[in-house]
Amino acid sequence: MSRKTLRVSKIRNGTVIDHITRGHALDVAKILGITGRMDGIVTIAINVPSKSLGVKDMVKIEGRELKSDEVDKIALLAPHATINIVRDYKVVEKQVVKLPDVIHDIVRCTNPACISNSDEPIQPTFYVEHEEPLHMKCHYCGHIMEKPDILKQF
Ligand code: CTP
Ligand code: ZN
Repeated sequence: MSRKTLRVSKIRNGTVIDHITRGHALDVAKILGITGRMDGIVTIAINVPSKSLGVKDMVKIEGRELKSDEVDKIALLAPHATINIVRDYKVVEKQVVKLPDVIHDIVRCTNPACISNSDEPIQPTFYVEHEEPLHMKCHYCGHIMEKPDILKQF
């Protein structure tokens, strides 16, 4: 390695969220509750060179393996990310995130008058109309949800 190059270190145990579309690393961190005031090493890399994407963002979290509901949340804002689970320095699991056409439960409709926000036991449901930038339509009231509507819920 040349003296001018400082690479982002490999992690020992934890999760690497790779191939995040540029500009979305901090959104992914927010979704995961990474505040900068917790224990454990977290590396956030922005605009790093990538063979497939030109540039990409990355988030590496030491000592934490993401749960499936956390992966579902990441799919909303980084629909082409790769989640790598690392144990003892090796990638033991690689999951390519996929945003489904229909989203249940992960977020609420931001229209306060929507029936899914009433006391009725109704499961929030949205149809993804556009992936990046995200547009999804509420099944009940037709309200369109976009990235800021999602981020303010985490
Ligand atoms: N990584 C890490 N620490 C490790 C192992 C891997 O930080 N102990 C990171 C690598 O730097 C890379 C990502 O996890 O950004 C995926 O690692 P790997 O599967 O080895 O890389 P690629 O084959 O390049 O992945 P892909 O095919 O998904 O692009
Ligand atoms: Zn609604």
